Formats: sequence, structure tokens, C-alpha cells
Amino acid sequence: MNALDFNQNLHVQGAQAYTIRNETAQDEAAREALLDRAMGEGRRRKSSEKLRRGRLPSEGLAFVARGDGGMLLGSVRLWDIQAGHDAAGKPVRALLLGPLAVEPALKGHGIGVGLMRHGISEAARLGHGAIILVGDPEYYERFGFEGEKTALLAMPGPVERRRFLALELKPGHLAGAHGLLSPRGRKPSRATQAAPVSLRFSM
Ligand SMILES: CC(C)(COP(=O)(O)OP(=O)(O)OC[C@H]1O[C@@H](n2cnc3c(N)ncnc32)[C@H](O)[C@@H]1OP(=O)(O)O)[C@@H](O)C(=O)NCCC(=O)NCCS
Repeated sequence: MNALDFNQNLHVQGAQAYTIRNETAQDEAAREALLDRAMGEGRRRKSSEKLRRGRLPSEGLAFVARGDGGMLLGSVRLWDIQAGHDAAGKPVRALLLGPLAVEPALKGHGIGVGLMRHGISEAARLGHGAIILVGDPEYYERFGFEGEKTALLAMPGPVERRRFLALELKPGHLAGAHGLLSPRGRKPSRATQAAPVSLRFSM
């Protein structure tokens, strides 16, 4: 990352300054602890987890927000999935976003919005066609997510229909998409599985 990119990623909201960067293997322990604090143990039983378990995030689409002192303040990752098939029977590729989480004590400082905007713009820059997530529409509608786009799709587990949302990055990408979401992410190599703190995520 050059100096210009760094400055573009420095956000200041009220008293809270933070920087959004690609996640590295060194972030893993702090990210997991943050997710436990922000979401609790139940996070591992979510239907979305079935699309993430045993997979790596989509190349270049795992981000952390760090405070001035280096503390990890937020996390978001996006995952390669198949969003069923289109009307012609062709597989539809998409991204699943989540979890998105911010340090509980720092909610409401704009860190979640910053992570979302960065994740969406990077996904678009990398050429992805659509992002799907399960979350509160009252929060995600501000980024353009809507329930209509997932009307013919299904999660591999229970989901509250109103919270099953999608954003098209390429207009019409999800047109006619129907059927079950399934994982398509890269699997960690054996070497990575043996030593999870190294090589797990690329910059
Ligand atoms: C949801 C979460 C990521 C938002 O991050 P954040 O940094 O606190 O949010 P921001 O400061 O960027 O945005 C704040 C705005 O979002 C709204 N907001 C936050 N959570 C919301 C929710 N669940 N539903 C509706 N609005 C929500 C706030 O009311 C505020 O609205 P305003 O801008 O109109 O005042 C954070 O609260 C969090 O980590 N929650 C626990 C984990 C979680 O639920 N993750 C989402 C899974 S769906």
C-alpha cells in the first residue's frame, strides 16, 4: 500500500481515528476475540457459518479496522459462494458478507459503515457481481441491500426472510438466480491447516 492509499483509508469520526487494512494472519487471534465479544458464542451456529466453515475468505476481501494505537476495532470478510443457478441453469457466483463486527465500546462511531463501504468498493473493483448477507435491513439498506434480490434463493439453514439481503454490484447479476446458496471458497492448504497462524490470508 502506498502513502496515498494509506491516507485515503484513514478515517476520523469524532474522537475515534481508525485505518482499514487487508487482514493478515497476525490479526486472526484478535479478530476471533473481537467476534466473541461483539456477537457471542451463538455466532458459530449461524446458517452463514455453513458457507464459511473450512474455507478462506475471497482473495483480497478480508479487512480489519485498527485504531491509532494498533488495537483491532472492527472486522469484515467476504466469501466466495454460488447463489444457485440463473434462468438458463448456469451457476451464479456471488459473495457472502459477514461477519461484520465492531468493538462493542466503540459502536456508533462510523467504523461499521467504513468497513462496509470499503468492502463493497473493493468487491466491485475486483469484478464481483453481487454480495449477499443475513442482517438487519434497517442497517444494510443504507448500502443498497434489499430483500427482493434473494426472493428465489435459500440459505443452507434457517434464516429470517426479511434479513436475507443482496446488493448487485453489476446490474442484473442476480436476475433469475434461484436455489440454495453453497460454498465456493478456497480451502486452506494442508500446510496452512497445520500452522493456522501463517499463510492463512494474503494481503
Ligand atoms: C452492527 C455493527 C457492525 C454496526 O457498527 P457501528 O460501527 O456501531 O455502526 P456505525 O457507527 O457505522 O453506524 C451507526 C448507525 O447504524 C445504526 N445501527 C447500528 N446497528 C444497527 C442495527 N442492528 N439495526 C439498525 N441500525 C443499526 C445506528 O443506529 C446508527 O444509525 P445512524 O447513523 O442513523 O445514527 C455493530 O453494532 C456490531 O458490531 N454489532 C454486533 C455484531 C453484529 O450484530 N453484526 C452485524 C451482524 S448482522
